Amino acid sequence: MLINEMKKINIKKKKILMRLDLNVPIKKNKITSYARINSSLPTIKFALKQNAKIIILSHLGRPQEGKYEKKYSLLPIVKYLKKKLQNTVIHFSNKIKNNIQIKYGEILVLENVRFNKGEKKNCKKLSKQYANLCDIFVMDAFGTSHRIEASTYGVGMFAKISCAGPLLISEIKSLKKAIKNPKKPVVTILGGSKISTKFNILKNLAKISDFVIVGGGIANTFLAINYYVGNSIFEKNFIHSAKILKEKYNIFIPIDCKVKNKKNECITKPSHKILNNEEIMDIGEKSIKKIQKIIKNAKTIIWNGPIGVFELQDFRLGTEKISHAIANNKEAFSIAGGGDTLAVIEMFNIKKKISYISTGGGAFLEFIEKKTLPAIQMLQLKYLQKKSI
Ligand code: 3PG
Repeated sequence: MLINEMKKINIKKKKILMRLDLNVPIKKNKITSYARINSSLPTIKFALKQNAKIIILSHLGRPQEGKYEKKYSLLPIVKYLKKKLQNTVIHFSNKIKNNIQIKYGEILVLENVRFNKGEKKNCKKLSKQYANLCDIFVMDAFGTSHRIEASTYGVGMFAKISCAGPLLISEIKSLKKAIKNPKKPVVTILGGSKISTKFNILKNLAKISDFVIVGGGIANTFLAINYYVGNSIFEKNFIHSAKILKEKYNIFIPIDCKVKNKKNECITKPSHKILNNEEIMDIGEKSIKKIQKIIKNAKTIIWNGPIGVFELQDFRLGTEKISHAIANNKEAFSIAGGGDTLAVIEMFNIKKKISYISTGGGAFLEFIEKKTLPAIQMLQLKYLQKKSI
């Protein structure tokens, strides 16, 4: 890949500005999943070993620009970093100044970049301000690589040297392995409530997959081609597109479903017998058995999104069994990504059995769809500019 890599350039005693994706879920001031921070730790530790001065940038949530709100502060993340990187001095500041005093082997975390005016619009002035903080800019926030913002894109264009961090590199390599010449059969599992937001991805994945298994509201839209789906989530405007896709590719649609009826009971029904007052919440046992067979024979598995409403005990079985089927296929290269998918992986404790778990949600899907992302393009551009000087 034609981009500079942090591990291949000399960062010893340099001022490094690192864009990480430390956007973790926080409830009542407590971080509920450390996965993204933990995935960034090797990058930080590598730079610490090189005795670099490290400045960290990240966003958290989607605050209103120009307005500080405590619930979007990176403070809980800084506290966690202090715990994980004992003996390292970690400063925390909301000021972007290039005369900030940090020593070699120390870290400065700057407050949530999305508090800064101009961040989302990739403002030139802000991008330059970030770039002036460092000798080398390291882009390692794969989860935010699909955003063209000052801290993910603009800064990289203005920095003297810009490179990709090891997490970004390993995400790109693993995703490419799954989508470029993957070992066949390829099985894709795509859940989620809206087919509209994932339609292009679904189409691209269908092209490279031997089987696509759909779940949630996406599956309901496919069911609606021929059947009533009652009160279930589905998108009428996409029925026709779903039909065309189904005629062309091997898309598995549930043959039975678990529904919530008007008395709020959970019952299993064949997919063609859903009543108007019923709501599909999960797949049924017959569908589970068929899907398990398909997954068992797969050599590559691409997984995004739960199959049913796994948060509710009554409607968890489909997601649970399918997750275990993916985890138990030791022959296959399995790759998973997306916020809900990570929650499922944590719930069923199958992390160690998935070949690669991406830290990206939207970025994971966009990479599959477009085979690149804006921040990667920015790094490629920088690489080529340097070569032509
Ligand atoms: C994510 O959670 O997918 C990334 O951190 C990007 O966040 P965003 O969708 O708010 O840009």
